[in-house]
Amino acid sequence: MSQKLVCTVNGKRFEGLVEDDMTLLHFLREVLHLTGTKEGCGEGDCGACTVLVDGISVNSCLYLALSANGRRITTIEGIEENGELSRLQKAFIRHGAIQCGFCSPGMIMSAYALLAENPDPTEEEIRRAISGNICRCTGYQQIVDAIRDAADNSTHMA
Ligand code: FES
Ligand code: FES
Repeated sequence: MSQKLVCTVNGKRFEGLVEDDMTLLHFLREVLHLTGTKEGCGEGDCGACTVLVDGISVNSCLYLALSANGRRITTIEGIEENGELSRLQKAFIRHGAIQCGFCSPGMIMSAYALLAENPDPTEEEIRRAISGNICRCTGYQQIVDAIRDAADNSTHMA
C-alpha cells in the first residue's frame, strides 16, 4: 500500500505517494534518482547508505521512507558549497581518502554530521564517528586525516 510522504531532500520539497515498505535508500535512489547514496550490505552493517535526517546520520537501508515524513533529508548531493565540492569532499581528494569510492558518500556524510556538531574533533572522536562506516580500500588513516584537515578549515562549513 502507498501513503503520502512530504519531506525536504537537499532543500527541495517532495510530496508524493510512497510504498509502505520502501526504504529511504530506495526512495532516494529509485524515486528521486539520487544515486550518490550507495547500497552495500542492505542490513545496517556497512554505512555506505548513510544520509542525514534532520542533521542526524542514519543508515537509510534500515529507515523507512515514510518515517521521513515532515523531515529534512541531506544526501551527498546536498552538501556542495556554492556550486563546488565541499571542503570535506576536497579534503578527501587531497588526502587520497578515496580509492574505489563506494564507501565515500556514506563516510563523508558521517563526517559531515560530526563536524556540524563538533567542529574540532579529536582523532578518537573522528574514528568513533566513522566506526559504522566500513572501507575496504584505504586503511582509514587517510580518511581520518582528511576529516581532521576539513575540521581545520571548517569555518565556512554549514
Ligand atoms: S547498505 Fe545500509 S548499512 Fe550497508
Ligand atoms: S574507498 Fe573503497 S571501500 Fe572505501
